[in-house]
Amino acid sequence: MRISSAPVAAATQTQPTVTVEPITCENYEAFVHLRVAPAQSTYVADNWKSLAQVNLHGPAGKAFGIRTDGTPAGMLLLWDARMDPDEADRADELYVWRLMIDAAQQGRGLGKQAMAWVVEEGRRLGVERVALSHVIANEHAGRFYRSLGFAYTGEIDDGERVMHLPLK
Ligand SMILES: CC(C)(COP(=O)(O)OP(=O)(O)OC[C@H]1O[C@@H](n2cnc3c(N)ncnc32)[C@H](O)[C@@H]1OP(=O)(O)O)[C@@H](O)C(=O)NCCC(=O)NCCS
Repeated sequence: MRISSAPVAAATQTQPTVTVEPITCENYEAFVHLRVAPAQSTYVADNWKSLAQVNLHGPAGKAFGIRTDGTPAGMLLLWDARMDPDEADRADELYVWRLMIDAAQQGRGLGKQAMAWVVEEGRRLGVERVALSHVIANEHAGRFYRSLGFAYTGEIDDGERVMHLPLK
């Protein structure tokens, strides 16, 4: 599989360059060891678990690595709900299944740029919205996603607050 490494945002003096690439058998070792801070460990699964899950759940799920200036910095799992094998009434949405930025790289704008790429990917796929959910206690994630235009739906799914960003 060819690895796409097109920059998702132009580098500026203050913003590091972020690239997003599919995770394959050739590059997974660069991303699997990345970790969030210990206090954030209940907010997102370990990357090895995310990689196992995305491969076990079939073609609706895809894993991506996030790099900054070429250095592995995070992981993203997306779920194209239109291909969900377990739902008869499939949502027209791209679901952000996992997003993590390595503890050492947080707070530099990488998550924000990665999410801008996700929104572009949602537009490219033609879905009605981008959706996600976060652990209720993860208030930082809530503020982070709200600042990107996501809004709470009021729904609680498996103990997590659901947010949507309409694209149409
Ligand atoms: C949530 C997460 C992906 C954000 O990525 P990030 O690269 O740290 O975020 P950014 O640097 O792009 O910051 C985006 C905004 O959040 C703010 N922010 C970043 N870290 C913050 C922190 N620890 N506390 C409060 N605000 C913070 C930034 O100031 C920025 O705000 P601005 O746009 O007004 O300047 C990252 O913190 C993370 O991996 N957290 C642990 C796992 C997690 O919670 N994942 C989400 C599960 S739903």
